[in-house]
Amino acid sequence: MKEPSHSSPGARLRALFAAGLLVFALILAIAAAHAQAPDHAVASSSAQAATKTAVEQFKNIQVLKDIPADQLIPAMQFITASLGVECEYCHVHDAFDKDEKKTKVTARKMMLMMMAINKDNFEGHREVTCYSCHRGARDPVSTPIISAEEAAPEEEAPNAEKAALPTAEQLLDKYLAAAGGAPALQKITSRVAKGTATFGGQSVPVDVYAKAPDKRLSVMHLKSGESLTGYDGHQGWLSVPGRTHMMSPAENAAISIDADFYFPIDIKTRYEKFRVETGEKIDGHDTYLVIGRKEGAPPLRLYFNPQSGLLVRLVRYAETPLGRNPTQIDYADYRAVDGLKMPYRWTLARPGNRFTIQVAQWQQNVDVDDAKFAPPPPPPPPAPKPGS
Ligand code: HEC
Ligand code: HEC
Repeated sequence: MKEPSHSSPGARLRALFAAGLLVFALILAIAAAHAQAPDHAVASSSAQAATKTAVEQFKNIQVLKDIPADQLIPAMQFITASLGVECEYCHVHDAFDKDEKKTKVTARKMMLMMMAINKDNFEGHREVTCYSCHRGARDPVSTPIISAEEAAPEEEAPNAEKAALPTAEQLLDKYLAAAGGAPALQKITSRVAKGTATFGGQSVPVDVYAKAPDKRLSVMHLKSGESLTGYDGHQGWLSVPGRTHMMSPAENAAISIDADFYFPIDIKTRYEKFRVETGEKIDGHDTYLVIGRKEGAPPLRLYFNPQSGLLVRLVRYAETPLGRNPTQIDYADYRAVDGLKMPYRWTLARPGNRFTIQVAQWQQNVDVDDAKFAPPPPPPPPAPKPGS
């Protein structure tokens, strides 16, 4: 039965994928696969997901039985990115539980192999993942490759420069100073901006709200309605009209980094250990890379511009049972606002999708109601349809 007032699920999914809401789009895809599930079932099933295991929630789980149900899709994303494929490479459209494709059956064997490798050789630490062998391809390469061109001489940094790597403490202090310094930062408790989000060649208006100490909301005004990404200080969520996805603990940990209002101050205490390396060039500029680590959490990679001291790239990870899903955020167009240096443009990229937000103007210390950051309440049960 067609409902002419709604855009088709396919179109809605494509819009969400384009908007970078990959996880959310996948959850909608799976809900759509359970044909009779009414729209509002998504919100309630994801709310319960936290307590269920994968084998309880899904129909045909043989290997990943004991993982929390809300980690199954992130694990699937990890596999998909590791092999450089789409879900359809292993799954029949709209029937994820079916074992019709040989690749899905192989993938199960591969999971068992990966677990055995780690158990037998790495004391059960997840050192080898699908990506270690596949590196973004279906068929891993087992023979050294002969390069088509003559090897370029290794670009070696002069020894003097190597020896002169600053300490993490120096880089983080310089970053805090460049961002405006702690006293100026602490004078600000909220900020809002209007801007434009660009993805796949189209642009839509976007609003960003942030409030101390760790609340954040962005609202993309898509043709199909508003799409929101929020974090209320405890819980992250994604929503489109009538549907909400509550983030898993691993996703919450990742989004809480973006929501940290005093990030340049807090970064030193968020992690236990830091290491400094020469970072790759970003936008043609050299960088210093600071890697933050702490027990029981994925690392954080921060790339700083050596001259300005400002943060130009952040790479964070969401843990999944099979490996880590990376998110890379590049910050640019820093401008002075109320004694602070704020990025006016950032690009958020994940394997397979990216979008850029350009802010027109940051406004600071504006009244923003706490309620704005809370996930929308579950929609009321739908009215019975005539004739059904
Ligand atoms: C390389 C193969 C492969 C790819 C690519 C893949 N999956 Fe899977 N998927 C599997 C395997 C294998 C299982 C079963 C796991 C088990 O038995 O423990 C599974 C199970 C599932 C299930 C559970 C179905 C049920 O009810 O039993 C869902 C849902 C799912 N995948 C979604 C996805 C989505 C969404 C994507 C794309 C992001 C994806 N998968 C990509 C191999 C794959
Ligand atoms: C130790 C290395 C290694 C790891 C780890 C590994 N694979 Fe593989 N995988 C291979 C090799 C080698 C092949 C190719 C076998 C062949 O060509 O017959 C392969 C083939 C596959 C295929 C079949 C490809 C095709 O075209 O038929 C799938 C699907 C697959 N792997 C999924 C996975 C998944 C999912 C993971 C992680 C859970 C994983 N692999 C981890 C080495 C690995």
